[in-house]
Amino acid sequence: MKKKLFAVMMASMLTFALAACGNTGNNGEESTIPEPSTMKAPVVETESESETEESTLPADTSEEATESETELEDMAVTGVVVYFSWSGNTEAVAAEIQNQTGADTFRLVPAEPYTDDYDALLDIAQEEQRNGARPAISGSIENFDSYEVVYLGFPNWWGDMPMILYSFLDDYDLSGKTIVPFVTSGGSGFSNTIRTIESMEPDAEVLDGLSLGSSQAANAGDAVANWLSGLGLVE
Ligand SMILES: Cc1cc2nc3c(=O)[nH]c(=O)nc-3n(C[C@H](O)[C@H](O)[C@H](O)COP(=O)(O)O)c2cc1C
Repeated sequence: MKKKLFAVMMASMLTFALAACGNTGNNGEESTIPEPSTMKAPVVETESESETEESTLPADTSEEATESETELEDMAVTGVVVYFSWSGNTEAVAAEIQNQTGADTFRLVPAEPYTDDYDALLDIAQEEQRNGARPAISGSIENFDSYEVVYLGFPNWWGDMPMILYSFLDDYDLSGKTIVPFVTSGGSGFSNTIRTIESMEPDAEVLDGLSLGSSQAANAGDAVANWLSGLGLVE
């Protein structure tokens, strides 16, 4: 009896369930159209609301972040300090410029090193000038095209740039870039080197340079800061 009753109950439940399914199916068809549209409206609204919210609040913040990141990137990646130094004076100034601007640095190192002997160097440098030598540069500057500003530093050698500077200006195209020269010397300053740079890089803009005596190079912080801010290169 119990089994029969159970079977009857199950049968009627099944019938009900099937009928319900059928209804769902019908309703489903009916509701398939309205349902998504009923569903859609709030979903779309919700999406657009959330999009609007997102684009109003977080997007602004992220724009600001992107802008300040770009500013930082500009400061960090668009300048490069390219310099040659034999006894360290120009190197000290280069380090100060790098420190104050965040520019990258590339030291011009001759593939064939110079002598450590000062007197011998005087003769070698003079000889290189007479011969119009172009000493090969060790290594190369990666992504040179990406730099807008080139801080170009050298010691005055016999009233001119060391010949490795000529190698650099021959090897690299500085068209469209801004050249910011600096020199250290025993008193001659730039001599005629600015005009030489301008004639070798006619499509670059050459800004006012910084000339320091050998003995000023080690404490060049203030001089570099005044010079750079005068040129608008740092705040
Ligand atoms: C080969 C040679 C030639 C130099 N010629 C001059 C010169 O004509 N006029 C001058 O004022 N100083 C001259 N100097 C001195 C350097 O310009 C000065 O010591 C400079 O600060 C050195 O820079 P550095 O330490 O970066 O190599 C000469 C030095 C050398 C080694």
